[in-house]
Amino acid sequence: METMKRTIDCGSLRKGDAGRTVILNGWVNRKRDHGGIFFINLRDRYGVTQVTVDTTGEQAGLEGICAELRNEFCIAVEGTVRARPDDMVNASMPTGAIEVLASNIIILNRCEVLPFQVDEETNANEDLRLRYRYLDLRSGAMQDRIKLRSEVTFAVREWMTTQGFYEIETPTFIRSTPEGARDYLVPSRLYPGKFYALPQSPQLYKQLLMVSGFDKYFQIARCYRDEDARGDRQPEFTQIDVEMSFVSRDDVLAMTEGMMAHVFKKTIGVDLPPQFRRLSYEDAMELYGTDKPDLRFEMPLQDFSPYVEAGGFQAFKDALAGGGAVKALVVKGKADYSRKQIEELEAHAKIYKAKGMAWMKVAEGATLEGGVSKFFTENAAAIMGGLGAVTGDLILIVADARRQIANTALGAVRSKLGKDLDWCDPKKFEFTWIVDFPLFAFNEEENRWEAAHHLFSWPQEQYHATLESDPGSVKGDLYDLVLNGYELASGSIRVHDPVLQQRIFSIAGFDPAEAEKRFGFLTGAFKYGAPPHGGIAPGLDRLVMLMAGQTSIKEVIAFPKNSFAVSPMDDSPGEVDQKQLDELRITVRKKDPEGS
Ligand code: AMO
Repeated sequence: METMKRTIDCGSLRKGDAGRTVILNGWVNRKRDHGGIFFINLRDRYGVTQVTVDTTGEQAGLEGICAELRNEFCIAVEGTVRARPDDMVNASMPTGAIEVLASNIIILNRCEVLPFQVDEETNANEDLRLRYRYLDLRSGAMQDRIKLRSEVTFAVREWMTTQGFYEIETPTFIRSTPEGARDYLVPSRLYPGKFYALPQSPQLYKQLLMVSGFDKYFQIARCYRDEDARGDRQPEFTQIDVEMSFVSRDDVLAMTEGMMAHVFKKTIGVDLPPQFRRLSYEDAMELYGTDKPDLRFEMPLQDFSPYVEAGGFQAFKDALAGGGAVKALVVKGKADYSRKQIEELEAHAKIYKAKGMAWMKVAEGATLEGGVSKFFTENAAAIMGGLGAVTGDLILIVADARRQIANTALGAVRSKLGKDLDWCDPKKFEFTWIVDFPLFAFNEEENRWEAAHHLFSWPQEQYHATLESDPGSVKGDLYDLVLNGYELASGSIRVHDPVLQQRIFSIAGFDPAEAEKRFGFLTGAFKYGAPPHGGIAPGLDRLVMLMAGQTSIKEVIAFPKNSFAVSPMDDSPGEVDQKQLDELRITVRKKDPEGS
């Protein structure tokens, strides 16, 4: 290697370098043999350079090696840079104005038959890509995304440290504390029967750091949650975890806006607005049927209830009589949707528990046609005027005695239409804050109240007197940052008063003894002059995924797990030796035939 160590990378040579003698190291991206004249595209992380070897002349000695080369052989090339004749310049390659005439080539390592081609963007199936992730990561697309991730991480650190935040590591072996998902557990050898948990987030520790007086903390923190993997979820993932003391909600929002603006500008050159829009949770549900609306397109849900009474459609009347809602969506210019297309949308609404989805079209002459239109001929003009529907539009309506179902089902149809109609430009970034979340959610299965986000969020002042008597109406100082229909970040102002914290624990069903056992170290710390504090945690994986225009976080994680939480490359999770289990005094109960 010493004599053939690279003197330059494969992405840097330009016309002005003509005449230089260089050594390149890299992988064979492609080889063409034009009757003894070989063209080898040599690739490394920085780019691709064309190496030319004329074995019909002076370089006859290299013929054997050139014949042997296959894609992905790792080689070293020594040669002279030559400007390509004008008609041979490849404008699509940054190095396309030159080629390197090889005088020597050595094979650093051979490559076996590839499981898939290492291309710009591979179309190999996911398991194969993950099994050979080291090869998949060689593709230009993956290299770009991993580079972006590194730049984003750097930009975050740069911004946070210049804003006076300390980066502090918190432990990853902690006590198991419920935070929503299941914990991953790590058995203790020294204390058989006891377990560490891997943190679902550094939540409690960052709050303790506030008690310690580190009033601006951040961490690029690895988090672990034993939940079903999905496109935007992995069992282990990374948060940009932040906590601040002596702040109110708006301080945390402004800090996050500043961080996002810096990261977007620095890494992909995108200017973000100085402030993001804000929607209350209630408005988000009423207007978009979700607390993570994709605002790259508008099309809000509208209230159809003013037109129900005069119309003769019983299902709508029943929904209102039951205390529910009748909501409408005006899909601009889509009156040409076929019955089949509308049925598909209805089927989608039904996944979200809608009983059905009514529709009508605005036909020529501004008349309502089809579907349930016959019930609304009399007040057609008022409906069109009120909803802003014009000729050529399609009106979709979901009614339900449960307001939430009408909203979420039609909201899901709205999201589907946005995707189907290509309204979700991946290069557009529409941020919105969702604020004023309810503090508690009712768990119908377990017939009890539980924290909607987590147990440590601050109930807004005006609800402190009625926490116990009316938990359902309590709003908290909680906020989510939503980007293009994804929940990018969550946070809240925290409870710093031990008495208030105990009241919240009690409402969520933890009696004082249980709460003491699980969270005693936190509430205990609050007794020692805990400052008011709050924070937030944007998901790094989701952030980079959206910046890279992807829909799965696996595309921006070097070594992710598949959808079954398995790594096909190293076959984890795997069985362990009996000796290891013995040391931990663990007996594994094999699955019984029913698989439980
Ligand atoms: P939360 O649980 O909402 O809040 O998580 C914050 C952000 O982390 C990301 N995220 C995930 N990313 C990938 N895979 C997952 N399984 C996954 N789960 C969450 C999301 C999410 O918005 N301690 C609080 C934060 C706080 O209050 O400060 C917390 O963890 O982008």
